[in-house]
Amino acid sequence: NDIRGCSRGSLIVLEGLDRSGKTSQCGNLLAYLQGKGFSVEAWQFPDRSTSVGKMISAYLANESQLDDRTIHLLFSANRWEKRALMENKLKSGTTLIVDRYSYSGVAFSAAKGLNIEWCKAPEVGLIAPDVVVYLDVPPEKAAERGGYGLEKYEQLDFQGKVAEHYHNLLDSSWEIVDGSQSIESVERQLKDLAMHSILTCQRGKPLTNLWS
Ligand code: TMP
Repeated sequence: NDIRGCSRGSLIVLEGLDRSGKTSQCGNLLAYLQGKGFSVEAWQFPDRSTSVGKMISAYLANESQLDDRTIHLLFSANRWEKRALMENKLKSGTTLIVDRYSYSGVAFSAAKGLNIEWCKAPEVGLIAPDVVVYLDVPPEKAAERGGYGLEKYEQLDFQGKVAEHYHNLLDSSWEIVDGSQSIESVERQLKDLAMHSILTCQRGKPLTNLWS
């Protein structure tokens, strides 16, 4: 139990609506932490590189049709297939910045009308994030940003429902950042939250599982 010898990395998750700015912020945060000399990687879900991920990608591009529960379980399976690697990375001291996680899984499926407890069940046992940063952008504002409307879920009324479900999932591990601020201001807050989380993990905060 030598904390100094092998302190673990932190699991930092970014959540938010489509076009909330998460993906660029993940990239900025990665560069910042790498610059500070941390071992860090940026991940994203869905991970479209796996065979499950390719099925998800085809669904999102409207190239295939899947029942709501089927696609829900594929998104979950796509996280499960990465769980062991995730645990290894964290335990070996690498911090992971993850663009979307189980909360996307629940919020998007619940927005279609699926039961929330049913949606959460397949996520139980995945690694719990150390911090979840929610980039809060009103659906109307996200819709004005470029590239909107190309994928399945990028529709204003649906994103409004997703936002409601995200708000129902908030707990003490969440930090809400106002995504309507300047990019620099959002970036600064993310850096502070990430540094704080990394230090807490280095001091020996244990890894836990969802749904806690
Ligand atoms: P992306 O645009 O971040 O790659 O995500 C693709 C879409 O998939 C996005 O609209 C959110 C949605 N999604 C789910 O519905 N369930 C999930 O578990 C995840 C990770 C994403």
